Amino acid sequence: MNYSNRFGFYLPTKLVYEVGAIKSKLAGELGQFKASSVVIVTDKGVVGAGLLKDVESALETAGIKYAIFDEVEPNPSTETCYKGAEVAKSIGAEAIVTVGGGSPMDVAKAVAILVTNGGDLDGYEGADKFSNDPLPLIAIPTTAGTGSEVTPFAVITIKARNYKMTVLSNRILPRVAILDPLVIGTVPAPVAAACGMDALTHAIEAFINQVASPATDAMAVEAMRLIGKYLRAYVANRQNLEAAGGMLVASNLAGIAFGIARLGNCHAMAHPLGGFFNIAHGVANAILLPHIMEFNMLADRGKFKRIAALLGEDVSGLTDLEAAPLAVEAVKKLSKDIGIPATLSEVGVKEEAIPQMSKDAMLSGNVKINPRSTTLQDIENLFKSAM
Ligand SMILES: NC(=O)c1ccc[n+]([C@@H]2O[C@H](COP(=O)([O-])OP(=O)(O)OC[C@H]3O[C@@H](n4cnc5c(N)ncnc54)[C@H](O)[C@@H]3O)[C@@H](O)[C@H]2O)c1
Ligand SMILES: [Fe+2]
Repeated sequence: MNYSNRFGFYLPTKLVYEVGAIKSKLAGELGQFKASSVVIVTDKGVVGAGLLKDVESALETAGIKYAIFDEVEPNPSTETCYKGAEVAKSIGAEAIVTVGGGSPMDVAKAVAILVTNGGDLDGYEGADKFSNDPLPLIAIPTTAGTGSEVTPFAVITIKARNYKMTVLSNRILPRVAILDPLVIGTVPAPVAAACGMDALTHAIEAFINQVASPATDAMAVEAMRLIGKYLRAYVANRQNLEAAGGMLVASNLAGIAFGIARLGNCHAMAHPLGGFFNIAHGVANAILLPHIMEFNMLADRGKFKRIAALLGEDVSGLTDLEAAPLAVEAVKKLSKDIGIPATLSEVGVKEEAIPQMSKDAMLSGNVKINPRSTTLQDIENLFKSAM
């Protein structure tokens, strides 16, 4: 941070963290919206894990009529959002409760916009492109994770173009985020691993980019420390409540950090990988991250030394120059330990898609705030290095 820069911090989302928070807090939080009808946006994996039971009881206790939209898929499409909006309109929903990972949470944000604004989602790509206030939203994240419960972004795929677009507005920030570590206990190990690496990527990119500020650094640093401490244990046993709680808080803090500071090259490049090859977002980030870190290290070795230490490397007595590469090694070790593939080829990426994926990556605002200036050729080289 250069203290001659400006920075701000805005988070209208109320956070509620408690073991068992859905049971104890959801009905009360819903009360403030005075909604008589609500749509639950979720997916079949979440329903199959039995996670809607307490949500439905809370709605019944509060006497609120509800419909369930559970057709969200990973890397969700615009079509899914239109379907969700139809379900919401069909019961006259006045608020939305979303239960799920980033995919349902992002669809819920898009549905919230569509119900009150109509129109095509393509027209809402970018910052504040819609007029009317979206429906109010309560988010219950079931992965740790995207942090979407505290970010002003919805990432939606335009299938015809294999393109993941981002809708951005503070008005789609959930009003309430209910963090209940019990609900992330049912996540399959590979999903837990991928989501944890997504959260780590959020924290690292928000920490090293050009928009980082003292306020977002505080969040990002604590997120990295918690991920260094808990991700392995959480992947090993998702029922480990201490580790699950640590990861849920970590992904939330990383979400707050990048919701304000935004990201960098890694996310700019991960989105086309999701759009073209439907790769899980966290896996795409995890494979790219060490390559992007090596590229970015030139910009600020002091910050990389800090990352190394937060991820458990012994940096005592080392200069910034000596310690910085340990951050990259720490990320590689973590990814390997939790079973993430090391290369893009292993997850089915084809070399011939690199030129178009690179052009799409350059459209992202995240490239402009990456700590090291980046050209189209750099992005192509980075994709190739990760193959
Ligand atoms: N809006 C944002 O700020 C933001 C940030 C990062 C990523 N994203 C987006 O989020 C999406 C990825 O979200 P994700 O990584 O959370 O995965 P996801 O929401 O796609 O879920 C992955 C799988 O895990 C299952 N699952 C989720 N929670 C479960 C649980 N508790 N028990 C059992 N199964 C469970 C789901 O059914 C699904 O099959 C991507 O589209 C990505 O682009 C958005
Ligand atoms: Fe992400």
